Amino acid sequence: MKVLVIGGDGYCGWATALYLSNRGYEVGILDSLVRRHWDAQLCVETLTPIAPIQQRIQRWKDLTGKSIDLFVGDLTDYTFLSGAMHSFEPEAVVHFGEQRSAPFSMIDREHAVLTQVNNVVGTLNLLYVMRESFPDCHLVKLGTMGEYGTPNIDIEEGYITIEHNGRKDTLPYPKQPGSFYHLSKVHDSHNIHFACKIWGLRATDLNQGIVYGVLTDETGMDELLVNRLDYDGVFGTALNRFCIQAAVGHPLTVYGSGSQTRAMLDIRDTVRCVELAIATPANPGEFRVFNQFTEMFSIQDIAMMIKGAGNSLGLSVEIKSIENPRVEAEEHYFNAKNTNLLDLGLQPHLLSDSLLDSLLNFSIKYKDRVDESQILPKVTWR
Ligand SMILES: NC(=O)c1ccc[n+]([C@@H]2O[C@H](COP(=O)([O-])OP(=O)(O)OC[C@H]3O[C@@H](n4cnc5c(N)ncnc54)[C@H](O)[C@@H]3O)[C@@H](O)[C@H]2O)c1
Repeated sequence: MKVLVIGGDGYCGWATALYLSNRGYEVGILDSLVRRHWDAQLCVETLTPIAPIQQRIQRWKDLTGKSIDLFVGDLTDYTFLSGAMHSFEPEAVVHFGEQRSAPFSMIDREHAVLTQVNNVVGTLNLLYVMRESFPDCHLVKLGTMGEYGTPNIDIEEGYITIEHNGRKDTLPYPKQPGSFYHLSKVHDSHNIHFACKIWGLRATDLNQGIVYGVLTDETGMDELLVNRLDYDGVFGTALNRFCIQAAVGHPLTVYGSGSQTRAMLDIRDTVRCVELAIATPANPGEFRVFNQFTEMFSIQDIAMMIKGAGNSLGLSVEIKSIENPRVEAEEHYFNAKNTNLLDLGLQPHLLSDSLLDSLLNFSIKYKDRVDESQILPKVTWR
């Protein structure tokens, strides 16, 4: 099967492209490389040094004999997108190609507008090219668990059945996103749902939790294939930040009380979930939603786990609460369903098993590359 991975130079996309290629899929990567540009603008860098995309792909070919087609250009450029789609003719498109940082979208008006235009227009262009020329192609789109916010009831997978004034209906689950970035994903979800309904397109929205880990079987094969590890205040996740802080002897900085609970998954489960979605496509006209995560942790839980893992390596690790730069509920109920992917056969990796090999050891190996001035938050929601 031919699969186009949009955003294939990024963290999730690179791991997915190699995984699918290794499993015998014919893979193309479409990416504008804009993420490398945003890093340069913000003066931040992945902890692990990543090679240029052309070198990465060449190394993959040298090692495995498998080719990956490359289309460098912007999804918001319809002429380019249409040309790439007609040249590659995918049967499935996996769409990771968006601005994906909540703090980035909250820097100022320009970054909020950039995020929403980039994400919403890119996805809309994709829907139009599929409608015009690839109506049977399956769109696998990366959404986020952050679209739901933190409601005081269980979070279902995309839809909820409600009885109201004696009548009953199954409706899209209410969304209460927490940043202009998360809002862009909600707007995408609505546009995709609508396109499935009116044009009969088929799509799967993967509401993904926070992804962690550097290693997959493929990215671990060679230094030139290494994946990114973002730890800075804009693109880094709390888990990555804590690992780097433990490695350099900085206190782990928990935002606020640390009771905020989030859904998470190992990068090895991301790539497997995408394959499960591709292998059993949505039906024509169906807008299918999977919650893509394996475990839920509070930020405080994560800090404690990293302290424990750091201590086992002889590191002395301190945990410190700092003022929360975000506007978010800190004490809240959080219980999300994630049975759809498990029913398709997902066998989760657990954070407790990957913390050392896929995170802490990388943080220690590359600790001389850490720029401590980039770790603490500079963007606030207020
Ligand atoms: N990383 C996570 O923890 C996480 C969690 C939930 C959801 N997601 C979603 O998964 C997707 C991938 O996330 P990631 O962490 O790999 O991000 P990333 O920034 O590492 O990769 C995104 C890639 O998309 C490319 N891109 C962005 N806009 C583009 C455009 N207009 N045209 C072409 N290419 C473009 C970038 O250059 C980059 O290579 C995003 O949609 C994100 O919202 C990620």
